[in-house]
Amino acid sequence: MGIIKDRFRAKSEIVSAEIKDLLKEHGSKKIGEVQLSQIYTGMRGITGLVTETSLLDAQDGIRFRGYSIPELRQKLPKAPDGSEPLPEGLFYLMLVGDLPTEEDVQHVTSVWQRRSHVPNHVFATIEALPVNTHPMTQFVVAIMALQTESQFAKQYAQGLSKKDYWEAVFDDAMDLIARLPRVAAYIYRRKYKKGEHIQPNGLLDWAGNFAHMLGYENEEFKELMRLYMTIHADHEGGNVSAHATHLVGSALSDPYLCLAAGMNGLAGPLHGLANQEVIKWIFEMRDELKTEIPTKEQITEYVKKTLNEGRVVPGYGHAVLRQTDPRFIAQMEFGKRHTPKDPLVQTVWNIYEAVPPVLQSLGKIKNPWPNVDAHSGALLVHFGLEEYEYYTVLFGVSRALGVLASLCWDRALGYPIERPKSVTTKLVKRWLKGEDEIWGD
Ligand SMILES: CC(C)(COP(=O)(O)OP(=O)(O)OC[C@H]1O[C@@H](n2cnc3c(N)ncnc32)[C@H](O)[C@@H]1OP(=O)(O)O)[C@@H](O)C(=O)NCCC(=O)NCCS
Repeated sequence: MGIIKDRFRAKSEIVSAEIKDLLKEHGSKKIGEVQLSQIYTGMRGITGLVTETSLLDAQDGIRFRGYSIPELRQKLPKAPDGSEPLPEGLFYLMLVGDLPTEEDVQHVTSVWQRRSHVPNHVFATIEALPVNTHPMTQFVVAIMALQTESQFAKQYAQGLSKKDYWEAVFDDAMDLIARLPRVAAYIYRRKYKKGEHIQPNGLLDWAGNFAHMLGYENEEFKELMRLYMTIHADHEGGNVSAHATHLVGSALSDPYLCLAAGMNGLAGPLHGLANQEVIKWIFEMRDELKTEIPTKEQITEYVKKTLNEGRVVPGYGHAVLRQTDPRFIAQMEFGKRHTPKDPLVQTVWNIYEAVPPVLQSLGKIKNPWPNVDAHSGALLVHFGLEEYEYYTVLFGVSRALGVLASLCWDRALGYPIERPKSVTTKLVKRWLKGEDEIWGD
């Protein structure tokens, strides 16, 4: 058995025993109250899930196993001559719970290289789709085509013992993560580069090799991919992609089915698709104003126009965060170091100054600050990756790290099928009149 699997087994056995004790002693302790409004507003603020890999604080932003993004950029191992973290290290941290050594990270890289073979039928399945199919649709279809490789599905059909579920899920998670860059790069080259595909380079790290297969050999772009793949990986458990993956997994659907579900959620414009919407919105603004760098005053007027049209300002606002997203700041720092004079990057920074006061003035938006999606596109465009419809696929490859690490934990801890109670408005009305005391069974 591999060392990562051994370490995960040891860690998850300890946590499993702790949870058992915790529930035995405190299982009936109340952890909050639910207001009627919350069940009509996306369950906002209701604590209803346990996710071990990361925790989101409204003010401080995301922490992965307790480490903030600035801390991770400092502490996680890097590529030779690189200064951004290797996403392999973040995956190890989320899965095992400890910071990895350089050796641990090299081990993850080599395991993923070994497992990265994509069977031909997956490429044939992608090829069956019209080339103008949205890249996220192609990505989800490819994940579904890969499902023939699921160890969990095969072993479950043969009668897998409950105590061994996690092991097959672990194997599927590692295989899937190893294969995603190849599949994602294939979709990119197919749709935008006349189907001229690039073979993997077995000497590169996971994100560096992804950049290479996309066709970008610039070392700074490889660094951007390492940073991008790290900061998009996880955002605790309640966001749509994480929650969908977890929910589908609770039915014991295999990791391929679960990830496809999560990716379908990521493809929504209020979630992961916002990164393409941001660049589209900026390009439209530049076209309309006939200038490459709109002034802050021009941006302010354009934002007001967007709002008057009943549209959202993409890249701004968040369901939980109440401050500038540290993932935005990490990208801004990258931009200050590598692309300070780029007009599009400068526009993103001008938008950062112009948008919050306008959103604040509306009085209804809980968070007027930028989220991760407000910045990412401008950096990608700088290096030549201008095909913004593809951006959510990049997000998806990264998000797989977090949601699949969590899925391993879900099965190792033996979480049951998820089934919250729902009610009808008719029942709510009866209950409010005192005609019905119980919320159904
Ligand atoms: C992320 C988002 C979906 C969170 O939604 P939420 O938790 O319901 O946000 P709020 O509670 O602040 O919403 C209150 C109101 O402000 C509006 N609002 C929130 N963010 C807005 C934005 N960026 N532009 C315009 N209006 C916005 C909401 O649509 C809602 O309006 P309504 O009451 O008329 O329906 C929302 O901020 C949004 O749509 N942002 C733009 C898309 C985006 O960047 N998504 C990526 C998220 S990581």
